[in-house]
Amino acid sequence: MKHYQYSLPRTNLIFGEDTLKNLGIEVKKLGKRALLVTGTKSMERFGFLEKTVDSLKKEGLEIVHYSGVAPNPTVEIVNYGAEKALANGCDVVVALGGGSVMDTAKNIAIVAGHSEKEVVSIWEFSGPGGKTREITAKTLPIVAITSTSGTGSHVNRFAVVTNEKTREKTGIMSPFIYPRLSLTDLDILCSMPPSLTARTGFDVLSHVMECFVSKESNSLTGLHCLKAMQLVFNYLPQAYNEGNNIKTREAMALADILAGWALTTSRVILPHALSHAVSAFYPKAEHGLVLAALTPQIMRFNIDRGDEEVIEKHCEIAKMAGGRIISSTKKEAFKSVDAVERLLKKLKLNVTLQNLGVDEKDLEGMVESSFAAMKGPIEANPVSATRKEILHLFKRGME
Ligand code: NZQ
Ligand code: MN
Repeated sequence: MKHYQYSLPRTNLIFGEDTLKNLGIEVKKLGKRALLVTGTKSMERFGFLEKTVDSLKKEGLEIVHYSGVAPNPTVEIVNYGAEKALANGCDVVVALGGGSVMDTAKNIAIVAGHSEKEVVSIWEFSGPGGKTREITAKTLPIVAITSTSGTGSHVNRFAVVTNEKTREKTGIMSPFIYPRLSLTDLDILCSMPPSLTARTGFDVLSHVMECFVSKESNSLTGLHCLKAMQLVFNYLPQAYNEGNNIKTREAMALADILAGWALTTSRVILPHALSHAVSAFYPKAEHGLVLAALTPQIMRFNIDRGDEEVIEKHCEIAKMAGGRIISSTKKEAFKSVDAVERLLKKLKLNVTLQNLGVDEKDLEGMVESSFAAMKGPIEANPVSATRKEILHLFKRGME
């Protein structure tokens, strides 16, 4: 049996319907002046911004609002937000939004916590930047209110950021960026339109399928991942079709949390490594859609070259999708890919990289970008992949 060791998150978790109203009481325990980070308009449009502000103000918190965080947030977006936090003396960072907003808040908490007068760029804390700075307990406390069921950012130790200059998108990892408070309000999740439900839901599935077959997986990872897969295969199509169904939103929110925890005990692999490179070159290419374009081909590659354990794990994935598996053979393992492709079709996510606007001429650059910014996940893939093989996988994703 594999031995393992890791630090568990010290996150206070609030989960349920209409939980946003409890925010202020909890945030008050963490700080006095909050930098409230949001996206462009969705949270305002549905009234959740107002509810957030009311709950914080009711408890006497001061609020500095940083809005307009765009999907696939950049180094500049983080550094600018950190300047705002420093200039206003914020002592806690509250995120209300999807992964892009939550990651930006986490990264701002790092930068603001480690800067004095001038901000130190977030890129200096990241791996590919030739990491010069350690992330420490100086990081400001983070509160994450998730508005999607996708990234697990509200319960995990990662924050993703894109460097537009170097065309690299990477995940910063530190135990200090586990949110101190993670709040899931199912009413917020009901506001997601079907296409967002679909692509963020597929992100959840990707996390658990990847963490499960990853080289870094262990017996505890398996528990989280298998249950989450079952939830996604059973409930995502319904959440996509019936956005206001609380039961399906709850199932997806739970799967998202399990997936976030799987990222504590294991690591994502090739689909995430390659998808980040695509979004680094094409910032408008949404994370879940890029995963959808790449995942089936990568699963085939892994099953085809994988050892017995890899085959067995893909048979388990097929079982979680409701497939009947007679024996652990390569032929049966491919049923997992069929199940994923069926799901993608139901969710109208059966896209190619070409559909997402990717140009063949960028594929080689994307290979280099993935090795520079996502080396860990490439190495965690259960089958080792050369640059040439990765280029081939990108090409397959175009078709
Ligand atoms: O900006 P607004 O107007 O708020 O609109 C957002 C945004 O345009 C909208 N939206 C979010 N919640 C909504 C909503 N619209 C209606 N109702 C709601 N409830 O959706 C758009 C996309 O938001 P975004 O935050 O980008 O989506 P997602 O949650 O998929 O996050 C993706 C980002 O997270 C990173 C991805 O790489 C990407 O940058 N990831 C973070 C991870 C982590 N921290 O562990 C792991 C993941 O693998 C992923 O890499
Ligand atoms: Mn993801």
